This record gives sequence, C-alpha cells and structure tokens, in this order.
Amino acid sequence: MNSTFSTSLLRWFALHGRDLPWRDTNDAYAIWLSEIILQQTRVEQGRAYWERFMVRFPDVASLAAASEDEVLRLWQGLGYYSRARNLHTAAQQIVKLGHFPCTYDGIRALKGVGDYTAAAVGSFAFGLPVAAVDGNVYRVLARYFGIDTPINTAEGKRVFADLASELLPPKEAGTFNQAMMDFGATQCLPKGARCDGCPLAETCVARCEGRVADLPVKLKKTKIQQRRLVYIYIRCNGETAIHRRGAGDIWQGLWEPVAVENGEWCMENGTWGMNGAVLVAKDVKHVLTHRILLADFFLLELTAKPALPDGYIWIPESALDDYAKPRLIERFLELL
Ligand code: ADE
Repeated sequence: MNSTFSTSLLRWFALHGRDLPWRDTNDAYAIWLSEIILQQTRVEQGRAYWERFMVRFPDVASLAAASEDEVLRLWQGLGYYSRARNLHTAAQQIVKLGHFPCTYDGIRALKGVGDYTAAAVGSFAFGLPVAAVDGNVYRVLARYFGIDTPINTAEGKRVFADLASELLPPKEAGTFNQAMMDFGATQCLPKGARCDGCPLAETCVARCEGRVADLPVKLKKTKIQQRRLVYIYIRCNGETAIHRRGAGDIWQGLWEPVAVENGEWCMENGTWGMNGAVLVAKDVKHVLTHRILLADFFLLELTAKPALPDGYIWIPESALDDYAKPRLIERFLELL
C-alpha cells in the first residue's frame, strides 16, 4: 500500500465523500442494484431510478417474481436495456441459490456482473479486499503516478489493476473503492481537474509535470458507424401498430412503431405504403455507444387497418405507456 496516496485519499473522502442512499446500507441486493444502474448512468440520474426500484422491488424475491416487461418499463429512459434484462435474470439466479452470493467469484457469476461490479459489490456489502477499477480509477492513477500506458490495452488493464490492488487497504476496501469513485467524479475530473486545493496535488506526477490534460492515454478506436432508420406511426381509429424488437440487434425486447431500414419500406403488393404519410421529424439524431442513429419519423393516418408484416400488433394509442420503448421512440411520441 502506498501510504501517502491511500491515506490522503481516505482523508479527503471523509471530508468530501458524497452522501448516497446505497451507502447507508449493508443490504447486498440494494448495493448490487445501485451498481448495475450506475454502470452506464450518472449518479444524479441513477439515484431516482434506484429509489423507484427499491420501492417497487424492495428485495431480490420481488424482483425475481416480476415480469420482464415490468422491469423494462421501470428501467425505461436509462438506456442499455440489457442491464435490465440481466438484472432480472440475476435476481432469479440469486433466488435459486437461496442467498446473495458473498464471495467475489459468486458475485462475478451473476448475469450482468463484470470484474468492476463484482469488486464494488463485494467490497461494499461484504468487505472483500478487492479493488474496483473503472474509468475514474484509471484517470486518478494515471495522473497521480504519471503512467502513460494506454488504458484500453491488455497491458494497461493489468498495470492499473495491479496498482489499484497494491494501493487498497485490505481492511478498508469498500471505503477506498468509494473514495476512488468520488475523487474521480468530483475532484480529478476528466476535463477541468480541480487541482487547486487538491490534497494530492503536491505529490501528483501529472500535476508536477504539467501533464494532467494528457493523462490517461487511450488508443483511438475505429470510427463510429452511422445507421439510418425510418419509422411510420400508423394511426387508425385510435389504434396504432407496434412490434417488439428481436435478439441480435439494438433494443432487444423493446417496442416500436413500424420500422423501415435500408429502404425496404413499402409492402410492394400495395396493401399499404407511404402514400399520405406526413413527415413529422427528419434526421433525429440519437447516439448509442457504438453507433449514431439518424431517424425520420412519419405519421400515416388511415381509416381502414392495413395488413402488416409478421410480428406487429394493434393496440389502443392510450395503451402505449404500457409498453417499454427506446428513448428515441419516446422522443418521437412526445413530438406527436
Ligand atoms: N459509480 C459506480 N458505482 C458507484 C457508487 N457506488 N457510488 C458512486 N458512483 C458510482
């Protein structure tokens, strides 16, 4: 353990750590739920979702017993819906097991739990002496120790994981991991690090060498792809047609209006087409992790129900709220 770094960090945390509701409990379920929500969501947004989930599903049994649809609906707006599906599956794993797993490997075996989440849950709920290494930790360590090994390489991952383990005080693993998270999130920021007044500044290599903005180093990845989508919202006597997206693509399990991609839109036999469709919004941009979506939205008002491709159902428009939808579709419905 590098005592200067770890001691200063823990002292900083005692003064400046955030007061977050999942830190006031030893309940492994509540802690695990918070970590799944926070995997790709900022604390300010995740907090309200965590509170709603804890009200509706106060324990793992209630979550396991819910329908996937209900879990997805409660998750709506958070994105990365595989997290919600995995959360549900993992709840069923835990119920089958009979208790929440209390070893690192047991927690890591839950669906949707990676190294970071297993370390976070294990250290917070059970005091396991394992370092939770995420983007915050890469940044803080790269700067403080002046390490320029790219963080998105096998070597970088190993270097930072080994260093974090070395720094971790075994008896205060949970506090140390939370301190790293908060220090990265509120002090050692990606842009505009708050070096003035930082208690680690004097011994921080990046600070002393003027390299704060250059660290951590990340290798450039290939360009993000663009994908075009066209949606047709059919309105027919107060009903509309939707379908559920299948596996192997974005938004698995979520519902959306008639979707057209790569120009394959008109049903060529002419039962329905774009005639009479009104363009509601064009080139609506929606950014996902690995691609940028550009969507056009049409409204098609009809008096007789047309035949639809397989998989579509008619529902009253007033029932749309009951179906979990991608955020992009929600935005479109708000426009309508
Ligand atoms: N990000 C991931 N886990 C977190 C936690 N427990 N507290 C604050 N931010 C986090």
